[in-house]
Amino acid sequence: MADPKQSEERLKDEGVALPEEIDKGSMCDEIVGSSGALQRVLSLVSKVAPTDATVLVTGETGTGKELVARAIHRQSRRSSRAFVSVNCAAVPRDLIASELFGHEKGSFTGAMQRRLGRFELAEGGTIFLDEVGELPVEIQVALLRVLQEHEFERVGGTRSIQTNVRVIAATNRNLQAAIAAGTFRSDLFYRLNVFPIEMPPLRERREDISSLLEYFIDRYARKLGKNIRSVSSRTLELFQSCPWPGNIRELQNVIERSVIVCETENFSVDETWLPRQPLASECKSQSDFSQKLAAQEKEMIEAALRESAGRVFGPCGAATKLGIARSTLESKIRSLKISKNRFKTCAGMLSADLG
Ligand SMILES: Nc1ncnc2c1ncn2[C@@H]1O[C@H](COP(=O)(O)OP(=O)(O)OP(=O)(O)O)[C@@H](O)[C@H]1O
Ligand SMILES: [Mg+2]
Repeated sequence: MADPKQSEERLKDEGVALPEEIDKGSMCDEIVGSSGALQRVLSLVSKVAPTDATVLVTGETGTGKELVARAIHRQSRRSSRAFVSVNCAAVPRDLIASELFGHEKGSFTGAMQRRLGRFELAEGGTIFLDEVGELPVEIQVALLRVLQEHEFERVGGTRSIQTNVRVIAATNRNLQAAIAAGTFRSDLFYRLNVFPIEMPPLRERREDISSLLEYFIDRYARKLGKNIRSVSSRTLELFQSCPWPGNIRELQNVIERSVIVCETENFSVDETWLPRQPLASECKSQSDFSQKLAAQEKEMIEAALRESAGRVFGPCGAATKLGIARSTLESKIRSLKISKNRFKTCAGMLSADLG
């Protein structure tokens, strides 16, 4: 197999444009925790890693989905090749095909030279499709072809390109709800869901909190040149009783902030920085129900916004499609924290001012 660095140099010499990064590799890759829930995940990781099976990692935000994807790559036979990560939600709709599959020179305005897509950069290695639920339907079709036939075409190209890339996808969305709402293809779901791994939220593995606390304090104290020797028992108690809706990422941020302001050798936390406990009156089944309802509402609104290229009102707007008042839709977009700009296409943006 060719050395990926060498092929990268060669492609640069040939004047082929490459995306800025192949592997960020910036993340600290250690997976900390000894809870049964995490151990079960790690055992799945070591079983699936040596195979070439497609993996779908699901779980709430900040639970470690990308960390697990990297661990699978590291433990696989592809570990000496590239791990290419693509956040499907962060790439504008109009550019996602070119981002994934590349484009030929002159295939669209602004395509000044041939550019390789992420699949070609990942050749022989692994591609991580983060937030795969955000892929537009036409790209879902192309991805299905990659998974079934191991081939794709560059945008504006006529030649099929064979690919040998392992796909790991992740989502924090309920893909079943997206399938029901018509925004995600069920055939693609089954192709991705060959080997599902569900990341447990931190509140279901509280045993991991003390080791994570220790690990992150050590990491940030080192980085900041501080000497922290102990954690107050009150602080540990507070950390363990938190709901952590943002999971490990949130825990990590609170620890970093606390280490920055810590002036003694004893680590403590400002209680106001901790996520609030849910109200005792909010019984679990009730909150489960309303969470599911909100998720479905969000799916439907996002589907309508997608169809209307991000336009809220007017005859082709999402409010009309949904049959609700513009003001109702706008307040739902705010309360459900939907980013309508995500659905804007270039053509849509030009006429956005009109309605
Ligand atoms: N078990 C763990 N041990 C150490 N660090 C962890 C662990 N799990 C997660 N992290 C850290 O928490 C942060 C969030 O993890 P990651 O990005 O993998 O989560 P994610 O599920 O992909 O989140 P999102 O849905 O927001 O993309 C990262 O900085 C990661 O290194
Ligand atoms: Mg992620």
